[in-house]
Amino acid sequence: MNILVIGSGGREHALCWKLKQSPITEKLYCAPGNAGIADSAECVNIKADEGEKLVQFALDHQVGFAVVGPEAPLCAGVGDLLRKAGIKVFGPNADGARLEGSKDFAKRFMNKYNIPTARSSTFTNAAAAKKYIADEFKAGAEGIVVKADGLAAGKGVLVAETEKAAADFVDECFGGAFGTSGATVLIEECLVGEEASILALTDSRTIRALVTSQDHKRIFDQDKGPNTGGMGAYSPAPVVNESVMKQIQTEILDRFLAGIQTEKIDYRGVIFVGIMVTGGVAKVLEFNVRFGDPEIQPVVRRFDGDWADALYKTADGRLAEADLVWSDDPAVSVVIAAGGYPGSYRKGDEITGLAEAAETGAVVFHAGTAAKDGRIVSNGGRVLGVSARGKTIRDAIANAYRGVEKIRFKNCFSRKDIGAKALKYLK
Ligand code: AMP
Ligand code: GLY
Repeated sequence: MNILVIGSGGREHALCWKLKQSPITEKLYCAPGNAGIADSAECVNIKADEGEKLVQFALDHQVGFAVVGPEAPLCAGVGDLLRKAGIKVFGPNADGARLEGSKDFAKRFMNKYNIPTARSSTFTNAAAAKKYIADEFKAGAEGIVVKADGLAAGKGVLVAETEKAAADFVDECFGGAFGTSGATVLIEECLVGEEASILALTDSRTIRALVTSQDHKRIFDQDKGPNTGGMGAYSPAPVVNESVMKQIQTEILDRFLAGIQTEKIDYRGVIFVGIMVTGGVAKVLEFNVRFGDPEIQPVVRRFDGDWADALYKTADGRLAEADLVWSDDPAVSVVIAAGGYPGSYRKGDEITGLAEAAETGAVVFHAGTAAKDGRIVSNGGRVLGVSARGKTIRDAIANAYRGVEKIRFKNCFSRKDIGAKALKYLK
């Protein structure tokens, strides 16, 4: 079957790389793709938000199945448009995508279906929000989380340690720093613990978790510095032990499924649940309606089944029939970023060592790259994700970094401690 993947990041490269290996994949297209994706798929010059053009392309090229990578086109209804044209889609319609597009909607959903999450209140004016913050600190809170409602490309959340920082961020939100996303603000209790990412496929009939993973959100080693889109990930995340996974299944995933059924949301795709584990209990930090990036990179590295079949059956309402086959070997993916990221950074620097990195056995996923005069150049903040498997997590870390060392571009950098949190669980 012909498959169209929509998006241009490391997530879409990982998806295309794995889809390409499937026996049911005939032509694989990616719109718009990037320089690395071009090795696995034919890149098509249509942007992820150009819904009508994507539909036309899919119809003209006998696309049987589309996979929408990022959240923005899902929230904008690209899934709805493709479905209306008769194309099977992996990725929810706009009604389901609201679970990521509106933090307030997601919070109401969690509270309605008794899904464990941080206590919170929603505000539409700054004075009331600031009074609530002051009261929380007076009552002994050591921190508070302020969230702009709506998509803000990862920038709309502040974990504040002081009342002033929280209040200043509230002013920023209502002042328009995140556009319309700041017109409603959630103030949340600050959860303390270890984060992990749960990716689960659902076709609204059944819900099946993939292997667990953990991202590294902060820019610097030891989780210092500002938040980013994610600087590296590994799988499995040992913080999610058997008992935590059981609780996640019954209190989060099963209730999620019951919730979308009751709300009559026909959700077919992945639900990515960001969790905080505190004393062996998981609570939801956020829902995302697409695969985590970089989390999907180590996750697909561990998948030994037929990925196209699994995603197609999810889109077709037959997820229960899919065979999800996993390797026990852990996998790690280390992001190489451009100097200055997550602030401003240069683009257009030539990248060397990609072939040498591949010779180490690592698979290099391109996140922000472009082809220029026969060379590969940087074209984003997160530029590459270097992924590897190993017999143990220690081996997987070493294998990934062996690949990372081969790659150079001006001012490139990566965290040196990706996967280190898993080591403390080793016996
Ligand atoms: P979100 O986009 O809601 O996941 O927030 C982004 C990041 O902020 C999360 O990955 C956490 O690191 C942090 N965060 C969000 N909500 C909370 C919370 N209630 N307590 C502590 N940290 C949080
Ligand atoms: N890595 C976190 C995310 O994809 O949102």
